[in-house]
Amino acid sequence: MFMMSLLVVELGPLVRGQPQVPCYFIFGDSIFDNGNNNGLLTMAKVNFPPYGIDFPDGPTGRFTNGRNMADIIAEKLGFKNYIPPFATASPQEVLTGVNYGSGGAGIRNETGKHLGGRISLNEQLLHHQVIISRIALLLGSKDLAREHLSKCIYTIGMGNNDYINNYLMPQFYPTSHLYTPQQYAAVLIHQYFKQIKTLYNQGARKVALFGIGLIGCIPAEVTMYGTNGSACVDWINNYVQLFNDKLVSLVDELNNDLTDAKFIYINSTGISSGDPSAIGLTVANAPCCDVSTNYGKGQCIPQRVPCSDRSTYVFWDAFHPTEIVNVVSATRAYSALSPTDAYPFDIRGLAQLSL
Ligand SMILES: *[C@@H]1O[C@H](CO)[C@@H](O)[C@H](O)[C@H]1NC(C)=O
Ligand SMILES: *[C@@H]1O[C@H](CO)[C@@H](O)[C@H](O)[C@H]1NC(C)=O
Ligand SMILES: *[C@@H]1O[C@H](CO)[C@@H](O)[C@H](O)[C@H]1NC(C)=O
Repeated sequence: MFMMSLLVVELGPLVRGQPQVPCYFIFGDSIFDNGNNNGLLTMAKVNFPPYGIDFPDGPTGRFTNGRNMADIIAEKLGFKNYIPPFATASPQEVLTGVNYGSGGAGIRNETGKHLGGRISLNEQLLHHQVIISRIALLLGSKDLAREHLSKCIYTIGMGNNDYINNYLMPQFYPTSHLYTPQQYAAVLIHQYFKQIKTLYNQGARKVALFGIGLIGCIPAEVTMYGTNGSACVDWINNYVQLFNDKLVSLVDELNNDLTDAKFIYINSTGISSGDPSAIGLTVANAPCCDVSTNYGKGQCIPQRVPCSDRSTYVFWDAFHPTEIVNVVSATRAYSALSPTDAYPFDIRGLAQLSL
């Protein structure tokens, strides 16, 4: 009898089709953006074909052919709908979460500035404050909002542009003259720490931090810097590693200091290393779509027909992975395939945690 009731309790949420957590909030860059840049004056927007060619709603502002990682994580968590972008979320739908992601955005305010408008992490946190007020109104009190917010999953994927659209563009940004790679990683982590602390003060208790990816391998960087015979621009990947190593230490520090919350690190570089052809991805050195060489450099040329065998390409455009790669990465972030995919555990573990 006891066993049976336990079973019912455990199956309950699945039977009723409830998500594992009541809400999912997303902070990030173009890897996560699902439409927040559409209304901005910026080169970093993609609400035109062939973007979205494999997405049910077509081009929505997602920087890929189909679903992005936020979409897949939302599916894994059991949400029936994708988490709406801050730009267009209706007041009623914010209870289940909001996506604040913005292409070109970074930890640093100025990151991506040469592209035009973008919503920096600092501004994304201000947007979150607006949503928190709305949630307090919907639930009837600040305490109930706080209770609700403590149960949500939060993912943050930031830092890629602080390299791609800042440190690695000395013609537009002074950071590479001001800081050595080691110093820059430290400066970024220091600012990121303060931003994560703000999110904690806003009530977040289950937070997954995505490490920066192997940006030395993206076609845009390979084209710009050359690889000297290697498959990737190795020195760029070494810079990123400095940041990621510090991020892992930050996760330890946060978990030691903020004991009523849990922070995890998603090992993006680890997940994407290894031979892509082992999972049918036979083209790793060229984008699937024809990319622009002037306005919106590295993004797909509007209206051009992309490659047809999209499940064999690692890269959709010169910066962003294809949907199939997003599926693999998000699935491993949610449910680790290798013990090193997530530290100290994966998003599924974070969702199941009772704090
Ligand atoms: C960065 O942006 C935030 C939010 O817009 C602003 O409050 C802050 O003063 C800015 N910081 C710097 C150093 O410009
Ligand atoms: C290019 O690779 C060669 C052989 O590995 C190495 O000796 C050389 O230092 C590299 N050059 C640059 C600019 O990294
Ligand atoms: C990330 O993955 C790589 C490759 O699997 C591994 O060497 C590294 O230790 C991992 N990092 C963490 C923090 O687990």
